[in-house]
Amino acid sequence: MKEKLQTLKEAALSQINAAGGLEKLNEIRVAFLGKKGEITSVLKSLKEIAPQERPAFGQLVNDARSMIEEKLEEKKRTLEKKLREEKMKAETIDVTLPARKPMLGHRHPNTIALEEVERIFVGMGYEVVEGPEIEYDYYNFEALNIPKNHPARDEQDTFYITDSILLRTQTSPVQVRVMEQKKPPIRIIAPGRVFRSDEVDATHSPSFHQIEGLVIDKNITFADLKGTLAQIAKELFGQETKVKFRPHHFPFTEPSAEVDVTCFKCGGSGCRFCKGSGWIEILGCGMVHPKVLEMSGIDPKEYSGFAFGVGLERIALLKYEIDDMRLLYENDTRFLKQF
Ligand code: DAH
Repeated sequence: MKEKLQTLKEAALSQINAAGGLEKLNEIRVAFLGKKGEITSVLKSLKEIAPQERPAFGQLVNDARSMIEEKLEEKKRTLEKKLREEKMKAETIDVTLPARKPMLGHRHPNTIALEEVERIFVGMGYEVVEGPEIEYDYYNFEALNIPKNHPARDEQDTFYITDSILLRTQTSPVQVRVMEQKKPPIRIIAPGRVFRSDEVDATHSPSFHQIEGLVIDKNITFADLKGTLAQIAKELFGQETKVKFRPHHFPFTEPSAEVDVTCFKCGGSGCRFCKGSGWIEILGCGMVHPKVLEMSGIDPKEYSGFAFGVGLERIALLKYEIDDMRLLYENDTRFLKQF
């Protein structure tokens, strides 16, 4: 009996030693210590032993049992530790690896040009304001001295939403909204998106951006307009830039003018860029029409003012020498990251 017990003990220990996983360990536990296990059956055969030897032998069996249990537990801990270590190793993060570079966005040429224009005007004491893109016919046309059936309406192919609501065709309605709300002196620029039902080509898009300017105060004259725009042109396109005012017509200004700047590519001698003329047209402007002032609640006998409107894309195209407006709307990062 004793030998058998010894053999069992040794067998159990060597099996435990060799066990490579927790499952195997459990099998060993069942095989030796389970209800039908080897050690249990030795215990059951106790009755075959002489009664006076039973307590001592029983003690031996129990010792063997607890020793096997202890070894099983010990091996279990080692195996679990090993498993944990393997898992940790598989899941570690190599903090020395260089990070993946995130794709960085880029400011759009329109945005860069707008920020430049805003910086210049804010430096001259102007306030930057905004108006709605969906506008009343009243603000977009009527209050700007463009009544129904006025031919000027035909020049701006309008997206109407209802008879009286439309997508603004110009930023000029913001002038009216500001004059209704503020008392002079007024000095604002109003950048924003405008819409016209134009076909897309190198110089046209159904949606583009304008920057409106408005100054109202006592004794504002055309000389103030000229001086202001000459200064802006110099800051935007370089100190040598000259401006030229050509008489023009806008219903909301009187007198009105279009402004050309000397071509910054050839300096005025004529090149492909300015189509040989030496001049590039950049904006429309004029002295705010007395009727427009009156309709917005400003007394034309007391106040006068000037206004101008410039295409933002036009400035961006000129500044960055881009020859096709469509490039501005494609959002091709290879194009955008050049600026
Ligand atoms: N709103 C005009 C346009 O879209 C541009 C313009 C011309 C605005 C003269 C003005 C101005 O404020 O005085 O063609």
